[in-house]
Amino acid sequence: MRTAFFSARRDEQPFYQGSSHPITFFETSLSAATAKLATDYPAVCLFVNDNANAEAIAALAAGGTKFIALRSAGFNHVDLQAAAHHGMVVGRVPAYSPYAVAEHAVALILALNRKLVRANARVHENNFLLDGLMGFDIHGRTVGVVGTGQIGSVFAGIMRGFGCRVLATDPFPQANLAVEYVSWQDLLTSSDIISLHCPLTPQTYHLVDDAAVDAMKPGAMLINTSRGGLVDALAAIRGLKTGQLGYLGLDVYEEEAGMFFADLSGSVLQDDVFARLLTLPNVLITGHQAFYTRQALENIASTTLQNITDFEATGSCTHLVKL
Ligand code: NAI
Repeated sequence: MRTAFFSARRDEQPFYQGSSHPITFFETSLSAATAKLATDYPAVCLFVNDNANAEAIAALAAGGTKFIALRSAGFNHVDLQAAAHHGMVVGRVPAYSPYAVAEHAVALILALNRKLVRANARVHENNFLLDGLMGFDIHGRTVGVVGTGQIGSVFAGIMRGFGCRVLATDPFPQANLAVEYVSWQDLLTSSDIISLHCPLTPQTYHLVDDAAVDAMKPGAMLINTSRGGLVDALAAIRGLKTGQLGYLGLDVYEEEAGMFFADLSGSVLQDDVFARLLTLPNVLITGHQAFYTRQALENIASTTLQNITDFEATGSCTHLVKL
């Protein structure tokens, strides 16, 4: 099935070589303006910062697109109502490597705690002073996991391995997971480290706001590898300035679209909130790379291609996104 592949990075294209589906790779992301590129392609393949809003979907439908194959688990960037209105089917990759994302969350915790970025820069300058590099034992700390789905449950297991007490909150608790389920408020007040692993929905938008930051243990660490919109960045900055929030580790940022996955080193940073975050020594940001392991890319490609094959054969797919 002819597939228009948006936001194509060079490094991921080899995983799709040899597919029976003729794929055209477009480096540009999908928007209402670029949707015309997909004219006469019955399938489009999208990543997290493609904007499949109602306007883009209408333009895709006008060009003959019938299937949206998401190369992601999250689908908050697709207007599902608009897709349904145009009779379009949406498939996703529900699980490709929960380990990749959970391990990256742990990497952010360790790097923030032991100030690895600063320490490495210092050693490169022949400066071997320890001042300012003191961390804390993770063993014995209380970790709050927000969302114990595939990624959150793997993350919880890793943190238990560190010797942490693991609290969690989830509207659908898992019966056999070795965590203590508590309320959102109790998680905020009791955790030394809070890690977000729930989806972005209208209910979870700005889940971490001023009230949540104020309710945290003074000096707590917040990790977000889930979706940027879960955290009100201005509330986080306010907390970081007073020390109420001790550390912030982000792999996602609410306004990351148009910024992450691009080389903007020759241009002036336009986002003043992001610029403020970059000035804070206890903030560590990666550009939506938590998923980025070889195993995850292999799994994303095989599930995506299978979704396209299924849709071509049956008009549906196993990993359907339902409205
Ligand atoms: P999942 O669907 O397996 O688990 C999500 C869990 O969050 C579910 O158990 C759900 O009940 C829970 N949840 C929903 N609303 C909640 C709330 N208000 N409070 C607490 N829990 C709530 O999803 P999975 O695979 O674990 O992924 C989690 C998120 O990670 C995705 O939604 C996606 O946004 C993000 N992600 C980020 C990646 C990255 O590269 N940074 C890569 C893959 C996923």
